[in-house]
Amino acid sequence: MFSHLPPYAGDPILSLMEQYLRDERPAKVNLGIGVYADGQGAIPVLATVRAADAELAKVQAPFTYLPMEGHAGYRQAVAQLLFGADQPAPEHLAVVQTLGGSGALKVGADLIARFFPQPTIWIPDPTWDNHIGIFEGAGFKTERYPYYDAQTKGLAFDAMLGKIAALPKGAVLLLHPCCHNPTGVDPTRAQWEQIVDAIERGGLLPFFDLAYQGFAQSLDDDVWPVRECLRRGIAFFLGNSFSKIFSLYGERVGALSVFCPQKNEAANVLGQLKLTVRRNYSSPPMHGALVVAKVLGDAALRTQWQAEVETMRVRDMRSKLHQQLSRAVPDRDFGFLLRQNGMFGYTGLTVAQVDRLREEFGVYAVGSGRICVAGLNDGNVARVAEAMAEVLRG
Ligand code: LMR
Repeated sequence: MFSHLPPYAGDPILSLMEQYLRDERPAKVNLGIGVYADGQGAIPVLATVRAADAELAKVQAPFTYLPMEGHAGYRQAVAQLLFGADQPAPEHLAVVQTLGGSGALKVGADLIARFFPQPTIWIPDPTWDNHIGIFEGAGFKTERYPYYDAQTKGLAFDAMLGKIAALPKGAVLLLHPCCHNPTGVDPTRAQWEQIVDAIERGGLLPFFDLAYQGFAQSLDDDVWPVRECLRRGIAFFLGNSFSKIFSLYGERVGALSVFCPQKNEAANVLGQLKLTVRRNYSSPPMHGALVVAKVLGDAALRTQWQAEVETMRVRDMRSKLHQQLSRAVPDRDFGFLLRQNGMFGYTGLTVAQVDRLREEFGVYAVGSGRICVAGLNDGNVARVAEAMAEVLRG
């Protein structure tokens, strides 16, 4: 019956995690998957999450089904966090709770594929590997636009803008509003303005993937490109995730928001999103969303949570890695580590160097050369820098 099924080649991030877990070396370091670990190397349960959890436990609500679109209070809290005071009126905005950020991409991709036949999505080069899997899985063709310049270890801005400006009307454009995964390289505010100009002029449909709100500058600054599209009345999709910024990875808490500039389109969009959810998994899970809604809906907890987001910005570990690498390999410039935003460092290490890091030193990085800086701590940063220096020396 199943003999024609080929073996699964594995996922560049999740299969690496499985390999890490099987590794019995005590000094192994996981810099593969994008997960924040604290100074002791543990994945923290945020104090605000504990507090919200304790409150929820006082009233044991039944484990009933949520509606297809998710928990109403959660959806409201999400819209408030994403759009702040500029929150659009309900007749312009459709928000559904999703299974993390990946779920938001999948629901959005399915919706677009149903109503815009034979769609193509333009993704940055490089991007998170699973963008390709999710969009191609939903029936999209994927095309790339220039993003990262390996020479300068910065943004290939002119090439990027040139490509975006030449896209056909209605083209779907995937954008990371902050903390680009995997490079950590983000456009400046002035560059974003030009990108939004090109989107507006070209009549493009941006699809924002926001997994790290608050990890670059601030919760508000990091969604500036999205709010600018809103301000200009440009239709967009926005998938967001609370996995990282609430340290709620396994709860799968996310949302998909669709901004509809034409009044009264949102009701039909929301209806079709509900249908998409129903056809995929009926309705989302409850607990993580209740926790997030509780924290965001309580002024004191929300302030405390904002401070917790700041502690997860990993600026100090970037500096420590930069310092130690610069000392160990003085003829190389590691300044890019300080300029990149978010959880990741895009090191420029080759596949062979990444393999050597893992096999000889037990340091796990993604094959693209991406390391999760949020996996570093005072107990392992020196060892990691030494191992990186060793493979760089050849
Ligand atoms: C990552 O990029 O490491 C994370 O977004 C986790 C994942 O699902 O790939």
